[in-house]
Amino acid sequence: MIKYIDYDESYHDDLSALQTNQWGANSDSDEVIENIKDYIVKLAVDDNKLIGTLIFHKKNEECLYLDMIVIKPDYQKMGIGTTFMQYAIDYAKNNHFKMIESEAIEANGHTNSKKLLENFGFVLTRSVKNFWGELCPDFECKECGNKPCTCTMHEYIKTI
Ligand SMILES: CC(C)(COP(=O)(O)OP(=O)(O)OC[C@H]1O[C@@H](n2cnc3c(N)ncnc32)[C@H](O)[C@@H]1OP(=O)(O)O)[C@@H](O)C(=O)NCCC(=O)NCCS
Repeated sequence: MIKYIDYDESYHDDLSALQTNQWGANSDSDEVIENIKDYIVKLAVDDNKLIGTLIFHKKNEECLYLDMIVIKPDYQKMGIGTTFMQYAIDYAKNNHFKMIESEAIEANGHTNSKKLLENFGFVLTRSVKNFWGELCPDFECKECGNKPCTCTMHEYIKTI
């Protein structure tokens, strides 16, 4: 049975593997995992096995920044990402934030979280080609398959 729990240190290595398996090694997400105590983290577990995560932080007094939602492939399209997104939005509302910012990744004509973001009323605010390739030259990107990464970053914002 799928449960949603707060971050627990015992899941640190599994969390690290979840993001590395998704994006690849040496991405900017490594820093998030290394400093995980500075983030708000929810975990989805199935029989105590990590199957997904939501990670976000306070960017400033007005804005929450959604660092990642990652669901293991076997558990995608089952509503877990929607549950996590609703949690982040409720958190923003309850804590008086005015907006939530997030980034979607476009590779090979497909933008990963576009549908999820647009379902919740996020609006595209800017797009930057080769964003992570320039930010992290050692990043071996699994999305586009290139090093340096050639993915485009799409910035989305939702007003609360
Ligand atoms: C994007 C992601 C978080 C969505 O989570 P999920 O649990 O599969 O999402 P849900 O089941 O709640 O579905 C939400 C919507 O996204 C769509 N969706 C889910 N996975 C998708 C995919 N791989 N490609 C395109 N759309 C997808 C669903 O069809 C649904 O839209 P609909 O209700 O209009 O049909 C998940 O696919 C994932 O972890 N992908 C890899 C990591 C990633 O790209 N993270 C997002 C950026 S941090």
